[in-house]
Amino acid sequence: MAGETTDSTTLQTEAEVEQEVTPWTVQAGKRGIDYNRLIEQFGSQRIDPALLKRIEQVTKQSPHRFLRREIFFSHRDMQLVLDNYEGGKPFYLYTGRGPSSEAMHLGHLIPFIFTKHLQDVFDVPLVIQMTDDEKFLWKDLALDEAYRLAYENAKDIIACGFDVKKTFIFSDLDFMSEPQFYRNVLKVRKCVTFNQVKSIFGLTESDSTGKIAFPAVQAVPSFSNTFPQIFGDRADIFCLIPCAIDQDPYFRMTRDVAPRLGYLKPALVHSTFFPGLQGPKGKMSASDPNSSIFLSDTSEQIKTKIQKHAFSGGRDNLEEHRKHGGDTDLDVSYQYLTFFLDDDAKLAQIKEDYESGRMLTGELKQVLIQVLQELVVQHQERRKSVTDEMVRQFMTPRPLNFDAARK
Ligand code: TYM
Repeated sequence: MAGETTDSTTLQTEAEVEQEVTPWTVQAGKRGIDYNRLIEQFGSQRIDPALLKRIEQVTKQSPHRFLRREIFFSHRDMQLVLDNYEGGKPFYLYTGRGPSSEAMHLGHLIPFIFTKHLQDVFDVPLVIQMTDDEKFLWKDLALDEAYRLAYENAKDIIACGFDVKKTFIFSDLDFMSEPQFYRNVLKVRKCVTFNQVKSIFGLTESDSTGKIAFPAVQAVPSFSNTFPQIFGDRADIFCLIPCAIDQDPYFRMTRDVAPRLGYLKPALVHSTFFPGLQGPKGKMSASDPNSSIFLSDTSEQIKTKIQKHAFSGGRDNLEEHRKHGGDTDLDVSYQYLTFFLDDDAKLAQIKEDYESGRMLTGELKQVLIQVLQELVVQHQERRKSVTDEMVRQFMTPRPLNFDAARK
């Protein structure tokens, strides 16, 4: 594939431990996930201070904590999106969810929180793809169940606060009957060989043809004319995709194909992984309940999970801890606070207190418990108020209200 690095998704870290990041597997090397190596290998760009400054200038707001703290750390063509936006050209946002479980976990929330922020600051339309077809193909899941989960998960996504006038959520099973969707899927499939799918996604001859054909389905929402109800037949509206870096392979493929179809390459902004409770090195996974805090957990469950399972960067005993302090790079509770505690000064104070030994692991965990209990309870309240009628509205193909002046 020309122009982008796509050869393999497996690499050796300095410690010669294999790190693997694909949309279906995230395996850390011995020292955790080496994000610099991922940038190099995937061929994306780091979000550097100059770009942060530019985002601040264009949005006239200080950057979101996910940007300030390098949680969204990598991008493709973000400058181009900003240049176009400043020049009065429109863009839209595209993100998604593979509905494989009833409850989403805190990690799944990260791209949606950031997407909501981008929708608010740029005032742009958003499409959200629910890949029930993908989960049917990859998991031991009946088609009807995957479809039901798409609608269940849509409620959690709506509860993030998206603007119904600017947001379209769709299940692939529903939307595949839209002729323009299938036409674009076919155009992408014609350009991508089996060899390319094998090398980009690590698929093999023994994988089902469903899996081999699927990537085109995740690719095409990047092209504006896939959504005639929103953009008419215009294929020239820029797309920006927020996601964790595990989804990048889909969009490397998309960016390679786009110019051959006369379409724009989508821009991307990538996040690191919200880690599992057992250690800061991996990603939170829905298949291990003890590694994850779910949006459906009770306050009591959150407390117990953090107290019992959150990996501590503290020392073995009180005396040692007071003397040497804790390690915030290793401490999962501290790492979680970097994602969810917005107050920079408070976070810096906690870091200082913990690293100096003034703050104990139990005290740090208590701060986190409070922050997460509040976050999850508020989410659950908003989710309760999401009615079936609201879901229907969000999931009906329709014109969205986007800035006509920018057209
Ligand atoms: P899924 O359901 O695996 O994940 C949904 C979104 O959450 C991100 N994510 C995480 N982010 C931070 N920390 C974690 N531990 C973590 N785990 C998952 C994923 O990167 C994703 O952004 N095939 C996709 C669905 C999809 C999609 C898209 C995602 C379709 N079109 C466009 C992003 C953009 C999937 O199964 O996501």
